[in-house]
Amino acid sequence: MKFIVYNVRDDEIPFVQKWGKDHGVEVAYTTTTLNQETVEEANGFDGISCLQTIPYSQELFESMKSMGIKYLSLRNVGVDNIDLAAAKENDVQITNVPAYSPQSIAEFAVMMALYLSRKVGYMQKQLDQNHQFHFSPYFMGRLMSEQTVGIIGTGRIGQEAIKLFKGLGSNVIAYDKYPQKTTNGQFVYVNDIEELLTQSDIISIHMPATEDNYHQFNHEVFEKMKDTALLINTARGSIVKTDDLLFALQSGEIAGAGIDTIENESADLQDSRSTKQVTDPDVIKLSMMPNVLITPHSAFHTSEAVRNMIDISLSNLVSLNNGDKPKDLVD
Ligand code: NAD
Ligand code: COI
Repeated sequence: MKFIVYNVRDDEIPFVQKWGKDHGVEVAYTTTTLNQETVEEANGFDGISCLQTIPYSQELFESMKSMGIKYLSLRNVGVDNIDLAAAKENDVQITNVPAYSPQSIAEFAVMMALYLSRKVGYMQKQLDQNHQFHFSPYFMGRLMSEQTVGIIGTGRIGQEAIKLFKGLGSNVIAYDKYPQKTTNGQFVYVNDIEELLTQSDIISIHMPATEDNYHQFNHEVFEKMKDTALLINTARGSIVKTDDLLFALQSGEIAGAGIDTIENESADLQDSRSTKQVTDPDVIKLSMMPNVLITPHSAFHTSEAVRNMIDISLSNLVSLNNGDKPKDLVD
């Protein structure tokens, strides 16, 4: 049995090496992004571990089939970028890692909410752009205990976020298309999404990207939100229409945004050795706003998450190779 890990970052390599040694399995790695051409590097391997936000296309699965590679093990949660029908047609089995560390993403969402609520962006701007270091009326923030937080998606990450916001004293309301049976007295489900949009001071999105929530946060929705509201998106970029977000921030329809995931993420995003400067005009515009915190899809990135992503994805490849049905099979 031998595997290859694509899109590897330097911080993942020690975990890959340790897993290989502990399990007596040969594991190669490459910084290359996986596509129908680069899959050639996987020739002779029994399975691929991968982590990327750009599409896994029909052509990739056709190439995998022609090379006799049957297993693709994702190191991440989201499966929105995979042509699942093409994978099935080409007999490629896929696994993901549904819970490598939900706390990592939840904590990041809370960090974004605190950064925006306490106006840290304004403080940074004063120092970075004007080289000044003094009080300002723009720095007056709001306590988390005075705010209503609306969580959209009460799955693994959403539930961790609820615990953290509750710990800070916030009033938490939530919406989920498929609500949990119990809320443990921690939050209240609203009757419909409209209620969450109009009542929340902070909205944090924790649902997967699907066809039905594509651009769900658009001009119409921003108009319904409080003009003092903050939007946090650590889920997927496609859920928020960036043009409309920019307008909402510029026109004062909402007060701020924490954006870890933005639509149309390119392969460059994951090139952790890159020295290229950012060219995406939306990222540049958002990065210049003091009421915005924009980060390169890095909410996941803690040592606990990285270890679990590697260990679980490689163990899933072993299960697939042994003909077992891994619990993380994506169908
Ligand atoms: P999960 O499956 O445990 O929970 C998702 C919840 O969303 C479920 O309760 C589901 O019922 C609900 N949901 C689905 N569609 C919905 C809709 N249209 N409206 C409202 N609710 C809906 O998933 P999770 O582990 O909590 O992860 C959520 C998402 O976070 C992932 O799908 C992924 O896109 C994203 N994510 C981002 C990062 C990052 O680094 N930024 C890391 C991991 C995951
Ligand atoms: C996920 O796990 O779904 C993420 O968004 C993390 C990312 C590195 C792909």
